[in-house]
Amino acid sequence: MSAVKKVIAVTGASRGIGAAIALELARRGFTVGCLTRNGKGPEVREAVEFASRFVNVACDVTDEASVKDAFARVAGKAGALDGLVNNAGIHLDGRSHELPVATYDKVMATNATAVFVACREAYRHLVKSGGGTIVNIGSFFDKIGVKRNIAYCASKAAVGAITRCLAVEWADKGIRVLDVAPGYIVTDLNRKAMTEGPLADYLQKRIPSGRPGTAGDVAKLVAAIFSEDIPFLSGETIYIDGAQGINH
Ligand SMILES: NC(=O)c1ccc[n+]([C@@H]2O[C@H](COP(=O)([O-])OP(=O)(O)OC[C@H]3O[C@@H](n4cnc5c(N)ncnc54)[C@H](OP(=O)(O)O)[C@@H]3O)[C@@H](O)[C@H]2O)c1
Repeated sequence: MSAVKKVIAVTGASRGIGAAIALELARRGFTVGCLTRNGKGPEVREAVEFASRFVNVACDVTDEASVKDAFARVAGKAGALDGLVNNAGIHLDGRSHELPVATYDKVMATNATAVFVACREAYRHLVKSGGGTIVNIGSFFDKIGVKRNIAYCASKAAVGAITRCLAVEWADKGIRVLDVAPGYIVTDLNRKAMTEGPLADYLQKRIPSGRPGTAGDVAKLVAAIFSEDIPFLSGETIYIDGAQGINH
């Protein structure tokens, strides 16, 4: 996909991996619809440099009308969407034998149902553009068993399934759909826990590449998917986890 005038919407672009993806896409010349709950753009210092490439709109991904409205507003300002990154997500954990359904449902609503809804609402925009690319941000927790993480793991497995179904169903419209599934990624929110103390020690032993990834690592992979023209690549879950998910 040539970057010329291409418009990509990114959900959860306020911080963490979403902000890094928005920045990397802008750096490569894309116009980025930054969908954030507060309607502001990426809350990182470097964002100022690329402010002219951002169209910032308010969007709660669990609210169908809000998602529809956000895409319409991005398209109204920048032109029809060529791509979408479903990045917004939450992580809630708890022991499975006492986990309230409300907690399970909240995680599924944000991480899985909202991905389906955003894909569905983006569809007519992508068709209008003559096709496009959707990247859903999953997790390597989609294929492993993790104590206290039943809802999160189920939600990310659903992201893989949504990706495969839509890739098959929408291929004839020139729409490809991919799942980028990170391993442990350091963001501002978790930096201390991931780089110092018991979790950092555990990760150093478990991740073959020796350290957690960065939001920039994920952003470069996502931006490469949008920058390269590879129509035959669709439906797959692409893991970016330092080989942790296949480590024995
Ligand atoms: N960090 C990791 O180790 C890791 C590993 C694998 C996968 N992932 C996935 O990567 C994605 C981003 O994670 P992150 O680490 O960057 O998380 P983060 O720093 O907690 O950021 C989450 C983002 O999602 C947004 N968000 C949450 N609920 C939303 C809603 N209802 N509507 C709109 N936006 C909402 C947040 O917006 P506000 O600023 O408004 O709260 C924020 O921008 C998630 O899908 C996560 O599951 C992360």
